[in-house]
Amino acid sequence: MSTKAQIAVIRGDGIGVDVTNATIDVMEATKKKVGGFELGYNDIVAGAGYYQETGTDIEPEGETAAGNADAILLGAIGLPAVRHPDGTEIAPHLRLRDIYGLYAGVRPVRAYPNGPQKLSDPKAAELDMIILRESTEGLFYSAAVHNRDEICNNDEVRDTMRITRATTERLHHFAFKLARKRKERGGLGRVTCVDKSNVFRSMAFFRQIFDEIRPEYPDIDIGYNYVDAQALDMIRQPWEFDVLVMENMFGDILSDLGGGLVGGMGMASCAEIGDTIGLFQPAHGTAPDIMGQDKANPLAAVLSGALMLDYCGEKLGCQAMSDAGRLIDDAVYSGFEQKRLRPMEFGGDMSTSAMVKELVELVGEQS
Ligand SMILES: NC(=O)c1ccc[n+]([C@@H]2O[C@H](COP(=O)([O-])OP(=O)(O)OC[C@H]3O[C@@H](n4cnc5c(N)ncnc54)[C@H](O)[C@@H]3O)[C@@H](O)[C@H]2O)c1
Repeated sequence: MSTKAQIAVIRGDGIGVDVTNATIDVMEATKKKVGGFELGYNDIVAGAGYYQETGTDIEPEGETAAGNADAILLGAIGLPAVRHPDGTEIAPHLRLRDIYGLYAGVRPVRAYPNGPQKLSDPKAAELDMIILRESTEGLFYSAAVHNRDEICNNDEVRDTMRITRATTERLHHFAFKLARKRKERGGLGRVTCVDKSNVFRSMAFFRQIFDEIRPEYPDIDIGYNYVDAQALDMIRQPWEFDVLVMENMFGDILSDLGGGLVGGMGMASCAEIGDTIGLFQPAHGTAPDIMGQDKANPLAAVLSGALMLDYCGEKLGCQAMSDAGRLIDDAVYSGFEQKRLRPMEFGGDMSTSAMVKELVELVGEQS
């Protein structure tokens, strides 16, 4: 057991910097409130701005430094106008996923009271599910940053959907264990396998492995959905779902849809977990249209910080850290309940800095 977590901090570009600073402020307030643990930070510079200055996307030995921490906190990286000669954007974080095998992308979709729900059905107020996105292979296996194109010339380009047994087994086990943990806290205890197994062999293999693993979790309900039907159900009856497990690209798309259901990208938190380390970041990007204006909603990043504290608590055997993660969740919930959190993203009047101030107060008031 250790009571100190060392966090590698990559602020990145645009609003990534603002929302990371906000997260650290809220975590520090929570640390003070809960007590019994320490957080250390080491900054790693990376991103499109750094690439413009230096021609490289992350500081020397940055990847190693990130891997040496207990967890990585990342803001957002990339600016549309800054690109590699092949036209792709600066994305060193995709490499981090690959190097550290961060296969389990956890993306909560949760509605908050008085929050900006987009569906008129009153059941939408109970929305609480997790999109579990495999994050190292699938259709991102040949993402430009990895240089694994099968064919890439001026006549044809092919990208590859890669599903391996080793990663898929770990992913499905992760999904079932997560559903079990959520069931203990009142969740539905259900895992839905989202695929396209009617058409692609890779996806039939993904489902086959799901079926092999499910008997080990008899306490958890299961379901299946093709990804196109899942998109429909995310609008028609999203409250029926608990943990949705899927390959990388499907998860990329459906998690944005999930973020939209509960208001916008500013609510979309994210954890990417491997066997040795986890990376925590909001699912949104650098929002160039609002950067430098103190308008970003910091909640996706702050809620990612809560996921990080929960992860560090479990990893280091420190209950106080996990309690701190829960306390941040509770503070956000009660902030919406009392209408004290009104981000500009949802037409509210609160800047990023006003949101942080209020969150720090809310943290202090939690019991
Ligand atoms: N993981 C990452 O670092 C990551 C993820 C996605 C996009 N990007 C990069 O970010 C840049 C912009 O991409 P994009 O415009 O497609 O996506 P984006 O998420 O940055 O922005 C999409 C829209 O959502 C809004 N938005 C996003 N986060 C918000 C927040 N916290 N508060 C209020 N509004 C918010 C933006 O203002 C914009 O209108 C690109 O360079 C892209 O490559 C990075």
